[in-house]
Amino acid sequence: MTQKVLLLPGDGIGPEIAAQAARLLEACQNAGLDIEVEEALVGGSAFDAFGEPLPAETLEKAKAADAILLGAVGGPKWDKLDDLSKRPEKGLLGLRKNLGLFGNLRPALLYPQLASASSLKPELVAGLDIMIVRELTGGIYFGQPRGIEERNGERVGFNTYVYSESEIERIGRVAFEMAQKRGGKLCSVDKANVLEVTILWREVMERLAPEYPDVELSHMYVDNAAMQLVRAPKQFDVVVTGNMFGDILSDAAAMLTGSIGMLPSASLNESGQGMYEPCHGSAPDIAGQNVANPLAMMLSVAMMLRYSLDEPTLAERIEAAVGDVLDQGLRTADIAQPGEVHASTVEMGDAVLEAFAKRG
Ligand code: IPM
Ligand code: MG
Repeated sequence: MTQKVLLLPGDGIGPEIAAQAARLLEACQNAGLDIEVEEALVGGSAFDAFGEPLPAETLEKAKAADAILLGAVGGPKWDKLDDLSKRPEKGLLGLRKNLGLFGNLRPALLYPQLASASSLKPELVAGLDIMIVRELTGGIYFGQPRGIEERNGERVGFNTYVYSESEIERIGRVAFEMAQKRGGKLCSVDKANVLEVTILWREVMERLAPEYPDVELSHMYVDNAAMQLVRAPKQFDVVVTGNMFGDILSDAAAMLTGSIGMLPSASLNESGQGMYEPCHGSAPDIAGQNVANPLAMMLSVAMMLRYSLDEPTLAERIEAAVGDVLDQGLRTADIAQPGEVHASTVEMGDAVLEAFAKRG
């Protein structure tokens, strides 16, 4: 049966890297992958065209798709919008919430060829392979009440950090299962010394642990976890945490691998539908210059093949092709060493396609 893929290029460098992903999808189709690819607008580009960051038509197409591939959203042009509900980021958050994409997988994997691009000493990051499992549809990002209002003659801003037991349990199970498939270690990150919501989080993780006797569960406060990530990152295998802590820790983990331009992500719902996107943002400062690194986006295609389209062989072929290109010494600006020649977005895309074809 033909599976449906929705491509959402978005804003900033989104369209440039999405173009490389589209070429890769075409190469997969030529290799026998039975998919139909559609495109739609989201984020600032959707706001400009329709006055909404998540137009109804885009949401409908997303609901009907087996998998969604998203570039990035946001940019200074829309940061001035006072109405938060019109900001490009709301397009992304709306997709996550409406599709119930609660399970966010953010691998931080160091390609050995890039060890010297890391901000840490090569020996601290050699062989680094962490999976951050971030809860994506709850926590302080979505908790009610929220707002800015007048109290006692001054304005007060407030948000609510809330998790129900069932929300914690469901992301916990994703993380325990992930740990079973990987190194058998799970570190749950919380702030249980201060926040009740994370006392409950810790309790639920403890309650699940006996069901996964092959997984060693540990707990860490988020401030310590941030420190440990830059001190001795290889102590981690799978990390599970809430929406906001996961947002912050996954950027830090990404940088350990040399560049956030290398890391893909998957966001899954209960029926296995997924949205795939690079961990990086829309990088408006370099948009339109053909210099962005398309590898995170191309590796997102690989994750999509693995987690939503049941094509692990094609996924491995893409990942191997990326390795080949790095072996050849090709580097976009973000992963280049001083003095090295910079490959453009399109050159990097060309090279991956060529390596992908050779591995056929
Ligand atoms: C991410 C991003 C988003 C988030 C923004 C763009 C809303 O930083 O995917 O990590 O905070 O979740
Ligand atoms: Mg983020």
